[in-house]
Amino acid sequence: MPKYLLISGSPRKGNTDYILNKIFKSLGSNEKEIVYLRDKNISHCRGCLVCDKTNKCVMRDDMDEIMEKLKEAEIIVLGTPNYFDNVPGIVKDFIDRTNPFYKTDFLKGKKVYAIVIGGGKLENSERVIDGAIKYFVDAKHMKLIGSACFQALVLGEVENNPKTAEIIENISKKLNDL
Ligand SMILES: Cc1cc2nc3c(=O)[nH]c(=O)nc-3n(C[C@H](O)[C@H](O)[C@H](O)COP(=O)(O)O)c2cc1C
Repeated sequence: MPKYLLISGSPRKGNTDYILNKIFKSLGSNEKEIVYLRDKNISHCRGCLVCDKTNKCVMRDDMDEIMEKLKEAEIIVLGTPNYFDNVPGIVKDFIDRTNPFYKTDFLKGKKVYAIVIGGGKLENSERVIDGAIKYFVDAKHMKLIGSACFQALVLGEVENNPKTAEIIENISKKLNDL
């Protein structure tokens, strides 16, 4: 089971994947895994709130295996595109479906590093961190140990930005030192 769990929240093989794949390769530990949410079958939360009583979702899909990976991981790297200064639907579904952990300590103290890629200004993508991601981390009693935003709109843009390599290097160093 992974010490590092990297989660890519892009619906396409694009800038988010590029950054997460680079970080993944740079991690010295063999205890690492990368999950691409678009490849997973994750239903929308139905809002029944049964999980508030049972700590378990009534639905069976790929969220079962992802919940196990979250429980085992020490460090979670969540990468997401900025969609309307929020996360895309597949990331929101993932976040909503972690509600069975809400009243548990399963994720308590886990370290989260958040990465947001947006085509607009960096300060807009900071809003994704300050909104959706910070509350996800806080609600599960995890710790946001760092975050980075990248500006890129079209496929391949992030890798052609001269600043990208240096930022990835800094993130990798931080994660490897944990
Ligand atoms: C539906 C949609 C909404 C978007 N909204 C924003 C936005 O509000 N702000 C922004 O900076 N970029 C926005 N973007 C641009 C994406 O964040 C950008 O294309 C990014 O590179 C996508 O990452 P990816 O290549 O990993 O999929 C939007 C893209 C889509 C498809």
